[in-house]
Amino acid sequence: MSKHPVVLFDSGVGGTSLLKEIIHLLPRENIVYLADSKNAPYGLRTSQDIIDLSIKNTELAIQMKAKMIVVACNTATTNAISFLRSNYSLPFIGIEPAIKPAALNSKAKRIGVLATKGTLSSELFKQTSESFTEGVNVIEVIGKGIVEAVEGGWTNDEAFINNLNQQIQPFIKEDIDYLVLGCTHFPYIIPKLRELLPKHVTLIDSGRAVAEQTKTILREKHLKNTDDSFGGINIYTNTDNSSHLQELMKDFSNVSITRREF
Ligand code: DGL
Repeated sequence: MSKHPVVLFDSGVGGTSLLKEIIHLLPRENIVYLADSKNAPYGLRTSQDIIDLSIKNTELAIQMKAKMIVVACNTATTNAISFLRSNYSLPFIGIEPAIKPAALNSKAKRIGVLATKGTLSSELFKQTSESFTEGVNVIEVIGKGIVEAVEGGWTNDEAFINNLNQQIQPFIKEDIDYLVLGCTHFPYIIPKLRELLPKHVTLIDSGRAVAEQTKTILREKHLKNTDDSFGGINIYTNTDNSSHLQELMKDFSNVSITRREF
């Protein structure tokens, strides 16, 4: 069992930001990543649609003998993880906007959250936000066209940067000091956000904390790979974006990228 893979899934290439954190912390695990780019973006879909797509990805992960599933997508986590946990017996790790540390550390008591429509409208996000942000003004912005730009690889285009600049104006106007990146695609636009936002704004994403949580749960459940043979990192994508994935993963050896239907 311990040799079996940890399977991550996301609506596309964005979850590779979390995959990289997991590879750093768990270099001996066999890892599978499912990039459901065909169905991206999840964030504009109904909650039921997001649950159905999460079931489809989970079923494939189980066929691949997953010992644990990491839902590498805030939108899928906030809409589907409670369904998945109550219907499948293997452990699930999810990723949610890091609103708690942002609210706790904010001196201005004004924080921003940039996430998808699906995440910001979910019950789970609303509950988390209510529980941890008492006395803090939370400015929520639905990211428009950002997932598409990261999927398509056009985040350096001028039109995209202008569009991003427009979208973050509410954060600047409200003078936030923390910005929560509530989507696993968004770490790929951090350099752009740093250029566009005032210097005193701290960006937070949950990738590192979720990777640490993955490691903790593997240890607690005695699921860590104890075998010396390392099976590598296998990425499966259901569109023809292999070269884009290759580029995103260029700093990692042992990564194989395969197109398959799912
Ligand atoms: N990476 C997904 C997330 O973390 C993107 C969702 C989408 O496809 O809209 O929310």
